[in-house]
Amino acid sequence: MRKKIVAANWKMNLTLIEGAELVNDLFKGMPQLNENNLVVIAPPYTHLTQTSAQLAGMADVHLGAQNCHSETAGAYTGEISAAMLKSAEVEYVIVGHSERREYFKEDDATVAKKVNQALVNGMKVIFCCGEPLEVRDAGTQNAYVESQVRAGLFHLGDRQMNDITIAYEPIWAIGTGRTATSQQAQDMHAHIRQVLAANYGAEVANDTAILYGGSCKPSNAAELFACPDVDGGLIGGAALKASEFLGIITAMAAAVEA
Ligand code: PGA
Repeated sequence: MRKKIVAANWKMNLTLIEGAELVNDLFKGMPQLNENNLVVIAPPYTHLTQTSAQLAGMADVHLGAQNCHSETAGAYTGEISAAMLKSAEVEYVIVGHSERREYFKEDDATVAKKVNQALVNGMKVIFCCGEPLEVRDAGTQNAYVESQVRAGLFHLGDRQMNDITIAYEPIWAIGTGRTATSQQAQDMHAHIRQVLAANYGAEVANDTAILYGGSCKPSNAAELFACPDVDGGLIGGAALKASEFLGIITAMAAAVEA
């Protein structure tokens, strides 16, 4: 059975001290989670070692990174390899975030190579996909997202899909305060699951968690997470405040029990 996951993407925010305080506050307020709940925190690279040490006492909270490089090692000044992340106790790597695709010109082929790097190094992947506003307005979002999923993941075998979580993040909803309606999220998640089923069969499709991302907050998390194909969230802005992130985690825990 697939898990419910809430993942924090801190992006390029928080100093080391601020990050330590935030994790401390999360630790104090963390609700009781069952074995089907999972929390991931993906801080900036500079925080990984510190956050890893802090998370040692929190069994349900796992360390993530926001990116990795597509090559194994070498002369790539300023970059971080998947092997380095693994050696820093990272368990999850966010790959293909729309901000990476847009600002750092990551194309589908690069994203697919990053997926491979993370998997080969024994980590799990949170694979991001999602359409820009003009695609949503044109009504072609299903084909757009499907093509991202195919290009980024469909070279993988069934077993490797065990280590993949998908995050659907409509670009027009990221950091804008404009959330997709729960119906829009459900429709896309069901479409992604059906695309997975057509390629990998029902078991892989049913076992793959599909998270929603884009202005998810405590006030809308419960409704989103109640959708049958929405298995949690990838959270940006609301993950930077302990009270808000805890509110979203609580919504996940309640959704599993429902
Ligand atoms: P947001 O970001 O929650 O601030 O909209 C989500 C994301 O980009 O992962």
